Amino acid sequence: MAKILFFLFLVWLMGALGAANTNFLDDVILSELDDLDVEDGDEAELFDLPRWGIERGNKILVNVDSFGAVGDGASDDTKAFVDAWKQACSTPKSVFFVPAGRSYLVNATRFRGPCVGILRVQIEGTIVAPDDPKNWNFAKNGRIWLGFFNLTGALFQGGGVIDGSGSKWWAASCKKNKANPCVAAPTALTIYGSSGIKVKDLTIQNGQQMNFAISRSDSIRITGVTVSAPEDSPNTDGIHITESTNVVLQNSKIGTGDDCVSIVNASSSIKMKRIYCGPGHGISIGSLGKDNSIGIVTGVVLDNAFLRGTTNGLRIKTWQGGSGYVRAVRFQNVRMQNVSNPIIIDQFYCDSPKSCQNQTSAVEISEIVYRNVSGTSKSQKAIKFACSDNVPCSHIVLNNINLETRDGTAEVYCNSATGIGYGYIHPSAECLNSSDKKIKQKTDAGLDEPREEYIVHTEL
Ligand SMILES: *[C@@H]1O[C@H](CO)[C@@H](O)[C@H](O)[C@H]1NC(C)=O
Ligand SMILES: *[C@@H]1O[C@H](CO)[C@@H](O)[C@H](O)[C@H]1NC(C)=O
Ligand SMILES: *[C@@H]1O[C@H](CO)[C@@H](O)[C@H](O)[C@H]1NC(C)=O
Ligand SMILES: *[C@@H]1O[C@H](CO)[C@@H](O)[C@H](O)[C@H]1NC(C)=O
Ligand SMILES: *[C@@H]1O[C@H](CO)[C@@H](O)[C@H](O)[C@H]1NC(C)=O
Ligand SMILES: *[C@@H]1O[C@H](CO)[C@@H](O)[C@H](O)[C@H]1NC(C)=O
Ligand SMILES: *[C@@H]1O[C@H](CO)[C@@H](O)[C@H](O)[C@H]1NC(C)=O
Repeated sequence: MAKILFFLFLVWLMGALGAANTNFLDDVILSELDDLDVEDGDEAELFDLPRWGIERGNKILVNVDSFGAVGDGASDDTKAFVDAWKQACSTPKSVFFVPAGRSYLVNATRFRGPCVGILRVQIEGTIVAPDDPKNWNFAKNGRIWLGFFNLTGALFQGGGVIDGSGSKWWAASCKKNKANPCVAAPTALTIYGSSGIKVKDLTIQNGQQMNFAISRSDSIRITGVTVSAPEDSPNTDGIHITESTNVVLQNSKIGTGDDCVSIVNASSSIKMKRIYCGPGHGISIGSLGKDNSIGIVTGVVLDNAFLRGTTNGLRIKTWQGGSGYVRAVRFQNVRMQNVSNPIIIDQFYCDSPKSCQNQTSAVEISEIVYRNVSGTSKSQKAIKFACSDNVPCSHIVLNNINLETRDGTAEVYCNSATGIGYGYIHPSAECLNSSDKKIKQKTDAGLDEPREEYIVHTEL
């Protein structure tokens, strides 16, 4: 309640101070987001590392070839990788080295830390996964092809490629063919339970399912990464962030068959800057709240993105029946081209062959800012806030929005969404102003204090 009052107070202040001071409103409401700005460049390292190349001589090179890797794309190089990892991980100042110009076939492997000191993983060549789902041992490997566990300080780089060889997995998906059983498929690259990790200049492609997952980790910086899978490959999320904090993703190009980026439960302080997304399903928070679960995501900033030909743009998706919240999110300086659902909040998300039951609880969504978002929408409803009647979306801020369809018929849909807009907003989002009506109804019913009604009536 106090929060709503505060918000309304600020709305009132904004009115009182005039349009020229709208930034003030923004600054105060979103003060908690201010420290989320992405520092520029990758000069701000998570840790001090001398540059590869200059320091090569001082490093101990642990070359997978020296452990018997063949690199012909057909021989099983798993053992060589495991042995080289053991050596590199237990040797200070070492570099786990995958040479350029070759392709190493490696089975599902868990590379375990912690290692001594900060390990460098220099991938210059290609690492490929076995392509046949029939040989996958779920009991042993779960859903992880290349998994890096419990690392404390590591740098992955080298310009190489991690290739999940996913095509047979995709063909076996129930999303491709309803006759197939719906079974999970592996994630190509996973960083799990780790901290102080930088991933730089690598390509991750053709994930069996997700391409790259950051799980239960803290202080992760991903920069200059390319993620690529065909537009029609099922569930091939580009970069999936779960139960992780302080993740920076920048200067990356992602094109997949599912979300370019998906940020799910128990993640906070996620910053993205200079992201290209397309094809794919857009940049998503969620899904959250499936099977009546708790979903919490806070503190997400996307700054400077270009989305092209994606099925969604900036999306927050939650299942009915969940609980928890999404709070303090800012999407800014985003350009869209031919994007369906450029701005969408969907509290009725239902990615299931069966329709989902109506339920009253929902993951609460508030303090979501869209600033300087422009471009072309493929769907008429360029802005869609489909929120639950019981758990409305609140404190949505639109500022300088310009979205249009090719035939100039873009519109906004709101259900149970409240917030404000300032600056240029096209299509105009008056439906967000439903806040005053609702609050008035509540007030009339004696649920709220008259003071609030007064503020609402006077200033909105
Ligand atoms: C890699 O997988 C193949 C196919 O399942 C299997 O034959 C081979 O033994 C595995 N390699 C190792 C080192 O486990
Ligand atoms: C990572 O560390 C945790 C806690 O120390 C431990 O339980 C887990 O088994 C480790 N994981 C791997 C794959 O070694
Ligand atoms: C989400 O994270 C919270 C802890 O922040 C946890 O209690 C909850 O069980 C998690 N939900 C799921 C679906 O894992
Ligand atoms: C708005 O966003 C676009 C696209 O990201 C960017 O080029 C432009 O500079 C931004 N405008 C302002 C005023 O920040
Ligand atoms: C928009 O995307 C669709 C595919 O979703 C494509 O067929 C169409 O050519 C694109 N239009 C433009 C103008 O890029
Ligand atoms: C859920 O609610 C919507 C709108 O209130 C209604 O159209 C739909 O039929 C309901 N679905 C079920 C499964 O009850
Ligand atoms: C809400 O209504 C006011 C006054 O009618 C208008 O200036 C403002 O742009 C509207 N808000 C949105 C988000 O459209």
